[in-house]
Amino acid sequence: MNDTAQKLLAPGKGLLAADESTHTIVKRFGALSLTSTPELNRKYREMLFATPGIEQFLGGVILFDETVHQKNDDGITFPEYLTGRGIVPGIKVDEGLEPFNGGGEQVTKGLEGLSDRLKKYSELGLKFTKWRAAISITDIFPTDSFLQENMERLARFAKISQENGFVPVTEPEILLDGNHTSTRCEEISVKTWKILFEKLKAENVDLTNLLLKTSMVLPGKGSGVIPAPFEVAQVTLRALKNAVPAEVFGIVFLSGGQSPEEATANLNEIIKDKGDSPWQISFSYARALQEEAMAAWLGKDENVKAAQELFLKRLTLVSKARNGQL
Ligand code: 13P
Repeated sequence: MNDTAQKLLAPGKGLLAADESTHTIVKRFGALSLTSTPELNRKYREMLFATPGIEQFLGGVILFDETVHQKNDDGITFPEYLTGRGIVPGIKVDEGLEPFNGGGEQVTKGLEGLSDRLKKYSELGLKFTKWRAAISITDIFPTDSFLQENMERLARFAKISQENGFVPVTEPEILLDGNHTSTRCEEISVKTWKILFEKLKAENVDLTNLLLKTSMVLPGKGSGVIPAPFEVAQVTLRALKNAVPAEVFGIVFLSGGQSPEEATANLNEIIKDKGDSPWQISFSYARALQEEAMAAWLGKDENVKAAQELFLKRLTLVSKARNGQL
């Protein structure tokens, strides 16, 4: 497992989240008037993964179940293809959200049969796993009981992953939707992470072989406030230091609806300001890495090259930001 963790966050490298669920890819393609089908999804993923040069910047790619069974145009499965390029393939294993106690919050499901699924994923060459919990901030949410249950499941996922030899990426995403302030986001982030690490400790999870995937501390999108990168860095690092144990191998950020430019600039500032923070810090972006490429691709073969150029350009910038070199 340690070998996998080291490869994922090797110098200058981070993760591409290409694990959009069926529901999410329908939404992303739909915004560009494209209709998601397994074949169009496959072509899209092939466009991304075949981009020349990405192995310099990507330690790993997170895949969705549909993709791990698909092959590229040369008949090679995507996990094999990525491995051949020196990129570690991983898999999103949660099964989405379900209502929690009828109170309006939604908890992540997918623990049932997880160990059996992981055994199959291991045979396909996958080395790490991801589980996403989604946490909304409103005047009344998140409730304590919801956080307890959601973080408990996240910790169980991490334990079962490690028992099967996978490095878990534990993702409690604090959603950007809402009018909340950065201060309230900080308060909820710290509270969530503290509960998560209590649960991980109770499950005896090895933190040295675990990644925390998290949102940056930001004001809600509806507040209309776009903070300067130095403010995002200051509050995010303060919150992390307050709640995340030093043994954790690495922290990777999701982009969460920030523009590609914001997600790049904010990561750069976090790295520049991280001082003696004990963890590796890097990226695990979906939208911020893919948005420009997807819009240029539009499902057409003749656009593949232009889309790949945009993808590589953004990845190069994000990798520079991961080194604090922008
Ligand atoms: P975004 O970077 O688009 O937020 O996605 C990251 C992710 O993996 C969400 O689960």
